[in-house]
Amino acid sequence: QITLNGMNSALADLGLLATEKVFIVTVCSLHFNNIFSCSFSAAGVLLQVKMNVRRHLKNKNTVPKIFAETVARYGDKTALIFEGTGEKWTFRQLDEYSNRVANLLLERGFKDGDVVALFMENRSQYVGLWLGMAKIGVEAALINFNLRLEALVHCVTISNAKAVVFGSELNEAVSEVHSLMGREVQMFCSGDWDPKRVPRGTECLEPLLDNAPSHLPIFSPCCLFSDRLFYIYTSGTTGMPKAAIVVHSRYYRMAALVYYGFRMTPDDVLYDCLPLYHSAGNIVGVGQCILHGMTVVIRKKFSASRFWDDCAKYNCTIVQYIGEICRYLLNQPVRDIEQQHRVRMALGNGLRQSIWVEFMERFNIPQIAEFYGATECNCSLGNFDNKIGACGFNSQILPFIYPIRLVRVDEETMELIRGPDGVCIPCKPGEPGQLVGRIIQNDPLRRFDGYVNQSATSKKIANSVFKKGDSAYLSGDVLIMDECGHMYFKDRTGDTFRWKGENVSTTEVEGTLSRLLDMKDVVVYGVEVPGAEGKAGMAAIADPTQSTDLAKFVKDMEKALPPYARPVFLRFLPEVNKTGTFKFQKMDLRRDSFDPSAVSDRLYFLDSRRGSYVQLDEELYRSILSGKHKL
Ligand SMILES: *[C@@H]1O[C@H](CO)[C@@H](O)[C@H](O)[C@H]1NC(C)=O
Ligand SMILES: *[C@@H]1O[C@H](CO)[C@@H](O)[C@H](O)[C@H]1NC(C)=O
Ligand SMILES: *[C@@H]1O[C@H](CO)[C@@H](O)[C@H](O)[C@H]1NC(C)=O
Ligand SMILES: *[C@@H]1O[C@H](CO)[C@@H](O)[C@H](O)[C@H]1NC(C)=O
Ligand SMILES: *[C@@H]1O[C@H](CO)[C@@H](O)[C@H](O)[C@H]1NC(C)=O
Ligand SMILES: *[C@@H]1O[C@H](CO)[C@@H](O)[C@H](O)[C@H]1NC(C)=O
Repeated sequence: QITLNGMNSALADLGLLATEKVFIVTVCSLHFNNIFSCSFSAAGVLLQVKMNVRRHLKNKNTVPKIFAETVARYGDKTALIFEGTGEKWTFRQLDEYSNRVANLLLERGFKDGDVVALFMENRSQYVGLWLGMAKIGVEAALINFNLRLEALVHCVTISNAKAVVFGSELNEAVSEVHSLMGREVQMFCSGDWDPKRVPRGTECLEPLLDNAPSHLPIFSPCCLFSDRLFYIYTSGTTGMPKAAIVVHSRYYRMAALVYYGFRMTPDDVLYDCLPLYHSAGNIVGVGQCILHGMTVVIRKKFSASRFWDDCAKYNCTIVQYIGEICRYLLNQPVRDIEQQHRVRMALGNGLRQSIWVEFMERFNIPQIAEFYGATECNCSLGNFDNKIGACGFNSQILPFIYPIRLVRVDEETMELIRGPDGVCIPCKPGEPGQLVGRIIQNDPLRRFDGYVNQSATSKKIANSVFKKGDSAYLSGDVLIMDECGHMYFKDRTGDTFRWKGENVSTTEVEGTLSRLLDMKDVVVYGVEVPGAEGKAGMAAIADPTQSTDLAKFVKDMEKALPPYARPVFLRFLPEVNKTGTFKFQKMDLRRDSFDPSAVSDRLYFLDSRRGSYVQLDEELYRSILSGKHKL
């Protein structure tokens, strides 16, 4: 009221008509209302989840105990549908299967606190396996099924797994490394049994489970909501994967924030084609089945051409996406089925701003439920009000409810910039900064459970961030917040580089170039050039058919990008490497740089004087290195 009165008297001096004043005041108050309603609904969601977490903590609940309530309520409803085999499991079947897993492991002497690695591509039993383990307090280490050799051994070893359950489709990968895993690791194989193709001593899982009782295990661990549920490996940009600890309350919180924040219901049907060894697929997706009684359709592997057929076939109302998936869908030829479905919401993380609207319109999806949050981080955000391009919202009028903020960093090195008092400097609206979350260990919502590796944990925590002496989790990502509190993703850790005194966001440039190139995969990174300050932009472009028209590309690019953001070097290759979660792998590309003797792909150099790309050969390479050819 005070604000509106103040505004009214300010307008009085402007000589406006009464109706114009009413109009302006109405528009302004609607604008405020929107901010208020966003703030209060976001705060409401947080409080609801917080209260639920408190209740579960007090009642000593766990994910399996909450699942038991779900089974009691929805017993004969379909819990999981496995696209591929078409198999359906009701909640009761999932419950019984997981009971068999628990009873088998009990019988074999496993006890709470033991770890069992799960390494499977075919997924029918995946959920039942980790859930069964959790019923007796055994912690599953969910291993990326793309891993081989050293990386696979590393992940199994650091988890201290006593056993490995693997799918028969991975027989070879396991046989290759079996001798390196140590003798005492028990091996169970699920799927097509072929004793000649598995390591010696491996047992076939299915007959063992058939013989195990399907009743609730007699033993129930004294497990708490704050205890470990399973491990998820986060693929760092450098080095080996790290095992992040997921406690029961974190599993609950991640799934529940999305459920309440985006107003889902148990009647929704969710399409989950993301890998189940990762939090998006197994927590945000499958969690809706375990905790909220939703039917979840799981698919072994994402398929861009089958995506909408699957959605129509199973009457899915929510689809999940991650990384580059949306772009792959846009890259498909137009078909009728892409509009003939009941999908009302796309839920995920990493939709690029450059294709946001096109994605909604072409596939007729009313709401984009974009969220931000890593497995191990407590600074999750959600775009609860369908704001175009935003990955989240943090109330500016109720900031105390959720202690996260953006603080100033050197965008290139990610080093925090501190004020004279040694405390980090909060960003103003519109100013890019690193997202940080305050750590309050005795608040279950604000805890950081960290990694198995202690030294990796300490690298993600900084002190004196909000105020002197506190500690905070570093997300490693650069975001921008607007006046209202909507947050926009800008770039990932260390990806931004500086060129001609400007900061280049690789995420933005990738989005723009990919649009100019018919949604081809484009990876942008900075490379060092001797004698030049900063890093020169380089774009690796997946072009298997070699169909890029370079002259047209340059013209389009000059319209779309400022000079400093235009890639100085291009590398055309048949395909670019991606992680299991559909993110680009830049490490090898950065290392290869633009040296024609190290790279067999076609390389080009942007000759700024001629305004065109020219082939980069040994001679030109040497003349650039020697500084003779200016960039
Ligand atoms: C697992 O997947 C592989 C490869 O797609 C397939 O050949 C095999 O039959 C599947 N096994 C089971 C048990 O579903
Ligand atoms: C999808 O909905 C239609 C119409 O309501 C129904 O006939 C069909 O059986 C449903 N399909 C599935 C897989 O539930
Ligand atoms: C680039 O980022 C740094 C901090 O990371 C900032 O100080 C500088 O002003 C930025 N430059 C431009 C041109 O935005
Ligand atoms: C993040 O998690 C850590 C550890 O669990 C916790 O100490 C911290 O308070 C959390 N911060 C936020 C913003 O949730
Ligand atoms: C733990 O993390 C540190 C720092 O990231 C790394 O140097 C070390 O190799 C890791 N240890 C293991 C066992 O992975
Ligand atoms: C892609 O990954 C493979 C296997 O790790 C590697 O040999 C290859 O060099 C990578 N390609 C590029 C372009 O980095």
